[in-house]
Amino acid sequence: MIQNSQASNVSTQFKELTLEIRKAKESERKEILNVHNQAFGKEKGPEIAQLVDDLLNDKTAMPVLSLVALENKKIIGHILYTKATITQTELSVSTQILAPLAILPEQQKKGIGEKLINEGIKQLKEAGTELVFVLGHPSYYPRCGFFPAGEKGFEAPYPIPEEHAAAWMVQSLNDDALESANGKVQCSNVLNEPQHWRE
Ligand SMILES: CC(C)(COP(=O)(O)OP(=O)(O)OC[C@H]1O[C@@H](n2cnc3c(N)ncnc32)[C@H](O)[C@@H]1OP(=O)(O)O)[C@@H](O)C(=O)NCCC(=O)NCCS
Repeated sequence: MIQNSQASNVSTQFKELTLEIRKAKESERKEILNVHNQAFGKEKGPEIAQLVDDLLNDKTAMPVLSLVALENKKIIGHILYTKATITQTELSVSTQILAPLAILPEQQKKGIGEKLINEGIKQLKEAGTELVFVLGHPSYYPRCGFFPAGEKGFEAPYPIPEEHAAAWMVQSLNDDALESANGKVQCSNVLNEPQHWRE
C-alpha cells in the first residue's frame, strides 16, 4: 500500500538544506494547490491546481503517492504520483505516473524538484512499483533516471506528436518488467482526459 491521502509520519530530512520531504496530509491540500498555482503561473496555474485537486479525489488514481517538500514548516514543493495501468498486455505490472511536480518560484533551481522525484521513486520502489511514466521536459527528467518510453514499446494514452516523442518517458524499478511488458498506458479517469495530453 503506498498511500491513500492519509497523514503519514514517514519523513526524510535533508539537514544541509533544512529541507523536509514527507507524505502530504489531507489538511495541507489548500497549501499544495497554492504551490501549483504559483509555480505554473497565471495562465496554467489554476488548471494544474484543479487537476491536482481532482486527482486527489479520483478513486481510480489510487494508490497515490503525494509528497511535500517543506522549509521551516512551509510547503515549498509538491509531487504527485498516481496509478496507471498497461493495457494490451497479459502481464500485471505495478505502474505509476508522475504528474504534476511544482516548486514555488522563489525556491526553484535549488535541486528540490530532483530530491522530490528521487524520494518518490525510492518510496514507490519500496512499495513494489515496477514502472513509472512521465510526460515532461526531456532535458530535465533523464537526470532522475527516466528515458524515452516510446522506443521501449510503451504508448501514451493519446498520441504524442513526433517532435515531442522524447517527452514521453519511463523509469524502470524492475528490469524484468521493462523487458517483458509493453503496450498502451492508461491513467486514472481524471488524468486520462485528452486536455492533459496536449502541449
Ligand atoms: C520544473 C521544476 C519542478 C523543477 O524544479 P527545481 O527544484 O527548480 O529543479 P532542480 O533544482 O531540481 O533542477 C533545476 C534544473 O532544472 C531545469 N529546469 C527547470 N524547469 C525546467 C523546464 N520546464 N524544462 C527543462 N528544464 C527545466 C533548470 O534549468 C535547472 O537546470 P540546471 O541544473 O542545468 O541549471 C520547477 O522549476 C517548477 O515548479 N516549474 C514550474 C512547474 C513545472 O513546469 N513543472 C514541471 C512539469 S509537471
